Amino acid sequence: MTLRDETSQGPADTRHQSRNQDQDQSRSRSQKQEQEQEQDGDQPPCWSHHNPVRIRFGRGVRGKLSAELADRRCLIVTTARGRQQLESDPALRALSRSPAVRWVDTVQPNPERTALQAAIETLRHETFEAVIAFGGGSALDSAKVLNVALADGAVTHNLSELLADPRCHRDARPRPLYAIPTTAGTGSEVTPFATVWDRADGQKHSLAGAAVYPYAAVIDPALTDGLPREITRATGLDAINQAAESVWNRNATPITLQLAARALRLGFETLPELVASDLGTQQDPHRCVHLRDRLAEASLLAGLCISQTRTALCHSISYPITAHFGVPHGLACAFTAPAVLRYNATVDDGRLRQVACDLFGRRTTAGEFVESFTRLHQSLDVGPLTRQAIPSEQALLDLIPQMYTPGRADNNLREVDADALEQILRQAWSDAAG
Ligand SMILES: [Fe+2]
Repeated sequence: MTLRDETSQGPADTRHQSRNQDQDQSRSRSQKQEQEQEQDGDQPPCWSHHNPVRIRFGRGVRGKLSAELADRRCLIVTTARGRQQLESDPALRALSRSPAVRWVDTVQPNPERTALQAAIETLRHETFEAVIAFGGGSALDSAKVLNVALADGAVTHNLSELLADPRCHRDARPRPLYAIPTTAGTGSEVTPFATVWDRADGQKHSLAGAAVYPYAAVIDPALTDGLPREITRATGLDAINQAAESVWNRNATPITLQLAARALRLGFETLPELVASDLGTQQDPHRCVHLRDRLAEASLLAGLCISQTRTALCHSISYPITAHFGVPHGLACAFTAPAVLRYNATVDDGRLRQVACDLFGRRTTAGEFVESFTRLHQSLDVGPLTRQAIPSEQALLDLIPQMYTPGRADNNLREVDADALEQILRQAWSDAAG
């Protein structure tokens, strides 16, 4: 080492000189360690990216499905309202009127395990060539569950077993599933997860694995035109939150960070205007088409992000809030987002600042990201709408033991414990009061 060469002055050196040498050596060692740490930090981490879903996006893309699936025996999974929409849609009418179609049109919000198990029992001796999921996240997730449970190679038709042990569907060969979202928010059309709620244990479960991926995502933003304001708000918030959760996420990659930055920009630019504009009835219809298209893209990109990273702390916290107080998923996730962002900003490794720069198109700080998130939520009434569904701050805090969902909360950039959860919830409750 250089320092050792400089100090090789022989035994006549004074004690003072020796102490200086020790200090210099110590300083040099720590500088070297810092350099090594910086070099380690500069090295790109190992990461991978895989998403097998074939994506078709744009107004009118749904029109090709009828010809593509003509005369094939299809299972269509949707809600009663979704069936009406599908049957009255000129672009899909031929498909919906095919005699080869089998319907499951009883999907409910937050699909429940026992209802899905009943559908599995009804369908298990029938054969299908393809499955069509038409609707919001609940319809898409229900279709995914049915498709995996009915697949060749799934070792059981018992949903509880499929949820408990991924090996039960590891070798499943599901039918091609065409996911057609009619809301802009969940991104479920490109993810390998499906959410199942269990009233018996009051818990939310996730079916996750390669077999859960849809075959194709057919995203036609025209299907979201005219959605009610509350659905637009809640689903749009879900898309924004999912993009954000993929950023403050230990599984983030260079690809997901880029996708998330664009998803956030599109979501921030479009959702407040869409919600405030009375959804086109008082506004230039071309402007509404533009906004709907961009929000649909935000939702897709956010879905692609979480297909790699999964979600994180806001989603983990949200599940008992939805289960106990009936707060819509998107609102329940959004409720804590500014507080969680603030919590993570203290350990920012540069990604939050970078996403903020991408979001605003200029050099800025993670702090401005926090402020803009707070303003977005104020413009969308996230706080008052959520607080009015929760009896009290104490009722919220009482759910802390249920809010740590392994596989979600532990993706969060900064480690979380019960004290941290309490701090975040108190902050969110205070934020919500305005
Ligand atoms: Fe979500």
